[in-house]
Amino acid sequence: MLCVQDAASLAPTPPMGWNSWNKFACNVSEDLIGQIADAMVKSGMKDAGYQYVIIDDCWQVARDKDGNIVADPQRFPSGIKALADYIHSAGLKFGIYSDVGSKTCAGRPGSLGHEYQDARQYAAWTVDYLKYDWCNTITQDGHAVYLLMRQALEASSRPIVLSICEWGTHTPWLWGKDAGGNLWRTTGDIKDRWEGRVKWPAGDCCSNGVVDIVDLQVGLDSYTGPGHWNDPDMLEVGNGGMTDTEYRSHFSLWAILAAPLIAGNDLRDMRPEIRDILTNKEVIAVDQDPLGSEGKRVKKNGDLEVWAKQMKDGSRAVVLFNRGSAEHEISVNWEDIGYPNHLEAAVRDLWQKKDVGRFTGKFSALVVSHGVAMITVKP
Ligand code: GLA
Repeated sequence: MLCVQDAASLAPTPPMGWNSWNKFACNVSEDLIGQIADAMVKSGMKDAGYQYVIIDDCWQVARDKDGNIVADPQRFPSGIKALADYIHSAGLKFGIYSDVGSKTCAGRPGSLGHEYQDARQYAAWTVDYLKYDWCNTITQDGHAVYLLMRQALEASSRPIVLSICEWGTHTPWLWGKDAGGNLWRTTGDIKDRWEGRVKWPAGDCCSNGVVDIVDLQVGLDSYTGPGHWNDPDMLEVGNGGMTDTEYRSHFSLWAILAAPLIAGNDLRDMRPEIRDILTNKEVIAVDQDPLGSEGKRVKKNGDLEVWAKQMKDGSRAVVLFNRGSAEHEISVNWEDIGYPNHLEAAVRDLWQKKDVGRFTGKFSALVVSHGVAMITVKP
């Protein structure tokens, strides 16, 4: 049987996959999920490292007379196990969604009081990943309820990644690892926009743009590491609300943050530009670096920022990030990234996919509005 410590071996690097929510919300079905699994293979996403195919909210409609969770028979007529088998036969892994409270965020049955029963069901369905949400909770303690689900998953004897979706409300970075979580959301929901926090229809706060989420990650880097990751929410790359430049920045920043890379677009219908962002292997290698260090904002000068991440081989990955409305030069000094300024280092541009030369002391690039330059610096 797994124990909470072993749970760390489930996600030695940030999980990569696809989740239905950002694009499809409640419009999920076995046809859609099966087609997405096919597209994940055909598009090169699987080869690039994406693994989990995750159905978010709305797959479930009721509990039967024995309290077992029931999948929507219209949308999943072949049943969840058959869908899991299909996904596994494509060489991928299968994820599902539930909620700590009595109901999910979309009002479907939650797991409160059914934790062991649900975990047993997920294991029987050969689920590999559980996203566990925080809606409709009462006076529950975050650490205790997520640990309860981890223990229930352990009792099922199937290794299942536990994704804590508590929105950062009760500082999950302080207890998520001890609760057996492999990743925990650090913020409220992402929306497919560059910036701006917008209240939900009920008047409570808020959905976030990419830039808002990035700001909320500052200071959390020490809580991430192999097996347990800060989760700034799923990707919006390709969903249509941002420019390709902004999507490239979104993806680069998630990679430098060692964030889980969970795509949220329609993989069946991707423009080549979007596929090229999501499958850039050099950017993904920064995210997946085995040291598991999260990048930090090392310099901020108004709208011009430098983010840097230590890599296992001693090199640094760096994002030069221009949040402003005009093109601007941005520089990184070696001292900003923990190197002496007299050092000579090789710089490679991960979006142009080319070596740009050897530099001593600093590197500068002209960065377009809302854009990034992403480089590695190797002494
Ligand atoms: C919450 C979560 C989202 C999504 C929805 C589903 O808002 O934060 O990621 O799972 O619920 O209802």
